[in-house]
Amino acid sequence: MSMKERILVTGGTGYIGSHTVVELQNAGYDVVIVDNLSNSNASVVDQIEKVTGIRPAFEKLDCLDYAGMDAMFAKYAGIKAVIHFAASKAVGESVQKPLLYYRNNLVSLINLLELMPKHGVQGIVFSSSCTVYGQPDELPVTEAAPIKKAESPYGNTKQINEEIIRDTVTSGSPIQAILLRYFNPIGAHPTALIGELPNGVPQNLIPYLTQTAIGIREKLSVFGDDYNTPDGSCIRDYINVVDLAKAHVVAIRRILEKKQAEQVEVFNIGTGRGLSVLELIHLFEESTGVKFNYQIVGRRAGDIEQVWANPERANKVLGWKAETSIEDTLRSAWKWQLKLREDGIQ
Ligand code: UFG
Repeated sequence: MSMKERILVTGGTGYIGSHTVVELQNAGYDVVIVDNLSNSNASVVDQIEKVTGIRPAFEKLDCLDYAGMDAMFAKYAGIKAVIHFAASKAVGESVQKPLLYYRNNLVSLINLLELMPKHGVQGIVFSSSCTVYGQPDELPVTEAAPIKKAESPYGNTKQINEEIIRDTVTSGSPIQAILLRYFNPIGAHPTALIGELPNGVPQNLIPYLTQTAIGIREKLSVFGDDYNTPDGSCIRDYINVVDLAKAHVVAIRRILEKKQAEQVEVFNIGTGRGLSVLELIHLFEESTGVKFNYQIVGRRAGDIEQVWANPERANKVLGWKAETSIEDTLRSAWKWQLKLREDGIQ
């Protein structure tokens, strides 16, 4: 690359966004971050710079602000593609505040799709989720599996946004799109300079687990051991966040090199391995040597019993594969939790 190609990353100071900015910079891209900091901190920009030695451009801006986004595209002329992470993502909160979720998640995408052709932006990588499959009839789940009715307004925004992108492309918009359906992202950058910073009491398994292991929480609750799985606890496909970030880099490269077979392509981003909650707990204890308290409690409303990816399409077509072992991933999550304590953050 003689001139660095410029990529916009919305939500670039968030958990997956920050890891993706690092991988984009490592791959030679010029990154502009837009984030409203509703669930992240501007200091993440400094942390990214510590990892890569390059400071990404940063604009504190809400994707709902159409005029602000228009001006941003003009200011950073020549943005070639967008990775759109910025969204509200708490499943439970979305049930309490559906309109907030529909407004934030749908209007942000609509603004981007309207502004992209105006500013000559070729393509978009969209953060979708395995939540679109609900409880799949066949496992591992492929991209051809039917979309099931969403369990929450949050999940519904992922489904609707996939449709908004498809309809926009069908209408003749000159946009390339790649929809990445993430399974369960976990872990942190091996430097422990960036990672997941949950707001308040964590809802997701790994941050709750590491906070328990370090003594912030008394014990981890395992939501159900009476599912129809080998040990009775739910099964998920836990994908290392750096591996996940790298999937975005290959998706961007595919868009810019005009390699797509279809204007909208969809890929599962997972490992292909399903792990139960109890297996994950034991793997954490074995890989880190750290023990912690947990108890079995009742099921959590809305949980899917079991889901894991068939990632072959991403493996073959994108040439991307999950590489990091679950042990290294769990150690990275623990190292990050230790770093948060060292820095007096949590
Ligand atoms: N779990 C516990 N105890 C906890 C937290 C989670 O046992 O304290 C269990 C859950 O029941 C589930 C597994 O750990 O079986 C993973 O739970 P997470 O909350 O970490 O992840 P989910 O699979 O529920 O959620 C993920 C994404 C969401 C997405 C959802 C769709 O985080 O963004 O998948 O199902 F919407």
